[in-house]
Amino acid sequence: MQEGNGLTQRSYDFFIKESNKTRLCHEKTILTVNGQFPGPTIYARRGDVVLVNVYNQGHTNITLHWHGVNQPRSPWWDGPAYITQCPIQPGNNFTHRIVLSEEEGTLWWHAHSSMDRATVHGAIIIRPSHGTTYPFRKPRKEIPIILGEWWKEDIRKLIAHVLSTGSDFPPSDANTINGQPGDMFTCSSNGTFRLPIEPGETYMLHIINAALTNGFFFAIAGHRLTVVSSDASYTKPFTADHIFIDPGQTMTVLLKARGRGHSKARYYMAARALTTNAGAPLDNRIATAVLEYIHVSSSGHPDFPTLPANNDSSAAAAYTARLRSLASKEHPADVPRNIDKRMIVTLAVNEIVCKEGPCKGPHGNRFAASLNNISFEMPRTDILGAYYRSAIGSVAKTDFPDNPPSPFNFTADNLPPELALTARGTAVKVLAYGTVVEVVFQGTTILGGDSHPMHLHGLSFHAVGRGIGNFDRRQDPAKYNLVDPPYQNTVSVPTNGWVAIRFRAVNPGVWFMHCHLERHMVWGMETVFIVKNGKGRGEKVVPPPSNMPRC
Ligand code: C2O
Ligand code: CU
Repeated sequence: MQEGNGLTQRSYDFFIKESNKTRLCHEKTILTVNGQFPGPTIYARRGDVVLVNVYNQGHTNITLHWHGVNQPRSPWWDGPAYITQCPIQPGNNFTHRIVLSEEEGTLWWHAHSSMDRATVHGAIIIRPSHGTTYPFRKPRKEIPIILGEWWKEDIRKLIAHVLSTGSDFPPSDANTINGQPGDMFTCSSNGTFRLPIEPGETYMLHIINAALTNGFFFAIAGHRLTVVSSDASYTKPFTADHIFIDPGQTMTVLLKARGRGHSKARYYMAARALTTNAGAPLDNRIATAVLEYIHVSSSGHPDFPTLPANNDSSAAAAYTARLRSLASKEHPADVPRNIDKRMIVTLAVNEIVCKEGPCKGPHGNRFAASLNNISFEMPRTDILGAYYRSAIGSVAKTDFPDNPPSPFNFTADNLPPELALTARGTAVKVLAYGTVVEVVFQGTTILGGDSHPMHLHGLSFHAVGRGIGNFDRRQDPAKYNLVDPPYQNTVSVPTNGWVAIRFRAVNPGVWFMHCHLERHMVWGMETVFIVKNGKGRGEKVVPPPSNMPRC
């Protein structure tokens, strides 16, 4: 595989297999792609179709997803288990077509079954198409920086325990940069990720938050970062001492190396988790990696960057507010203005009554999570296949509500405990082709509240507004940014606040929408948009491949 500015490859072989890795003085078997953790990087150009041959050589069912790739008319290869496909069973294989269109910059791929994405993930780097170039000077080299988490315990065992007892998911044992905790953790110095750089050159960091639970502040000592894109869409460049990135999000930043003649050879890069859930303990464990200047002789301990405190939500919000689309002639921001369908969707962590009782969740119940007070139940066969065969009724109901079923003061203190209980079901929302949709994600204070990185497959959106407290449909829309809002696939909804997104439903298919905090997703904080075929040419889902996995 060529690194940096080499060739792009159009097909990859991904062997899912178990592999032994040692972290924190402890060896453990994890699921990997090709034995690598993080997994291999996919390089492509804008508009490419990349084939990935996935061979399941592990012992469990698995699926892979190409996070942020909109897969125009091609939902068959999107990957979420039981939404667009049945899992690939051990010993079987499936070839994914990754259909790139407008995406350019940083995306990633990850497992989309159980909690396997903890170890099964990697970068997708999308360069400009032939004959076009970056909206800035071409950098010297592209470097994936993948932020993640490490558990000493086997992830499949943990999730089985959580689901059987109804308890919360235990915090990770370390945060990681490119799979390594770094010098602040026991037994981790040897593996610390080191990035060699040359004085005076500019490097492109493809930063991905692959963590299951933590949003991160990330900074590099002695260097400022220039943010140039988020979620594979160019932003107005801005310079920052640190970035903030939620699970699922990606940011491309330029790192300008210092000139020759400065004295330091080594600088820490560091990631610190932001704790947004009032009930959770602060996460003080800082993952590090080291920037190393080539040809500069070392002198002393590397400098450490300044990072916001691990409860500094306002630093995260201030960073997020700086993200704006580039909105240039080559990269326009085409923000929808006339809305056909308005939805308000409440986000809540809930409880459901534990019949076999008592469970280890709140009030002796089990944890759940919901959108508009429906906790999503995974069907046993995939929704896309059923829909395509006109048998949607066998797997889901098409009655996902446009509004919270019984409105309340969503962000009040001390909500009555009954509000913590949620209904359950497999409720999806059907949209006619071309519908222009506005969704307001409304956080709630149920069980204390948390921030939620909401992710939509297949349909990138403009994040036009955000605020704290309850969304006010009379006042707030006047404050929307309809000129250059960021174009994203994963948006941070602040704790007990709201975010408004807009998109055009011009990609027919079955598209999962969920919180990218893994435990919230496992608990049911999700739904599905089905975008129907249009009448015109190029407005219909392509036929399925003949070898779709079977349940
Ligand atoms: Cu990053 Cu549904 O996925
Ligand atoms: Cu969430």
